[in-house]
Amino acid sequence: MVIVLGVVLLGACGGDQTPEPELSDGAALLEARCVQCHGLSKTTNEQKTQEQWQQTVTRMVEKGAQLNADEQATLVTYLAETYAP
Ligand code: HEC
Repeated sequence: MVIVLGVVLLGACGGDQTPEPELSDGAALLEARCVQCHGLSKTTNEQKTQEQWQQTVTRMVEKGAQLNADEQATLVTYLAETYAP
């Protein structure tokens, strides 16, 4: 939890000493942060609206996916555009 909070705070400050650079590309985020627990196909086989992707991403973050608020927004937009119903 402390680690997660630290990442969020560093991301929010936009300082250049952030250990893990904030990813601003949806595809890169998906490949970097969404494959620790299940394969990429778990996500790429789905088709959801923006609202549904938001709920899924929020649930994955609760499970432990490492994404700060900016990254979640970027990823949800990317998923909603790429994997739409
Ligand atoms: C900490 C482990 C973990 C990480 C990291 C993770 N997931 Fe999951 N994911 C799960 C588990 C466990 C399930 C199956 C149980 C469930 O659906 O709640 C799941 C199921 C899913 C499903 C199928 C169910 C549904 O709601 O459609 C999708 C899609 C999904 N994950 C997408 C993602 C995305 C996108 C990311 C990156 C933001 C991600 N996951 C990162 C653990 C994780």
